[in-house]
Amino acid sequence: RHSGDLVGRRVVVTAGGTQEPIDPVRYVGNHSSGKMGYAIATEARDRGADVVLITGPVSLPAPYGVDLIRIETASQMRDAVMASVNDADVLVMSAAVADFRPAHPSPQKIKKHVGEPSIIASSGQQKQATTEGHAAGDGFSIHLVRNADILADLATMQIGQQRRNREGRLQPLIRVGFAAETENVIANARDKLVRKQLDLLVANDVMRSDSGFGADTNKVYFFHPDETVEDLPVMPKTGVAAAIWDRVLSLLT
Ligand code: PMT
Repeated sequence: RHSGDLVGRRVVVTAGGTQEPIDPVRYVGNHSSGKMGYAIATEARDRGADVVLITGPVSLPAPYGVDLIRIETASQMRDAVMASVNDADVLVMSAAVADFRPAHPSPQKIKKHVGEPSIIASSGQQKQATTEGHAAGDGFSIHLVRNADILADLATMQIGQQRRNREGRLQPLIRVGFAAETENVIANARDKLVRKQLDLLVANDVMRSDSGFGADTNKVYFFHPDETVEDLPVMPKTGVAAAIWDRVLSLLT
């Protein structure tokens, strides 16, 4: 259908959600299934691109013919993205990256009752005081610290400035972001497009059952830097992926 229009292009796609450890058996995560990101990676592959897919833990099979990098945390995702984008033409961040992580993941499974003598004896008071998970009475609190924003950090770097387009001009990395919104979709999406200086922002309404996390279909809006907005109908994530690459193609010279 789009035979070969991405041949010779190197693209990096992120998919799935990150998992931020609380202790060895628990994490802070989200409902991303990876379907959107895997569809974007597969579509790019089918159109001839060299694809790096950086993925959080998901239950989807690894797509044939893409370079798969598995990560768990936002920090690992950041490292993988930074290591992959240097010679890439395009980055599409469809992963749901955790904005916060537990400050001090516990090296041992956190017990229900901190005061239990056996636990104090085995893990020690000192560790309980310095690691995550202070159970007190019926409550339990975890101190979260902010993760780096991968897309926003890339906006301030000169990544891709060594990449030449087909006319030999230097061209920066094309960056596509997503916005998962539960309210004020338009206003929040505009803000993300500007703040992260994106070339394209795909906003999805994640409150609809036929859109967003886990669904096979998605209802998205495309926000462009010239302030135009496209309102796309609900369609399979494969169709959204095709539409994204159509728009990106017009930005690749
Ligand atoms: O995986 P599925 O089940 O198919 O669901 C798809 C999806 C709903 C996860 C996907 O379509 C989507 O919306 N992904 C982005 C979710 C998200 O984290 O949105 P955000 O508004 O919090 O982040 C905005 C953008 O910044 C995203 O492109 C995100 O990847 C990026 N980001 C966020 C945090 C961070 N620390 N670094 C980032 O680069």
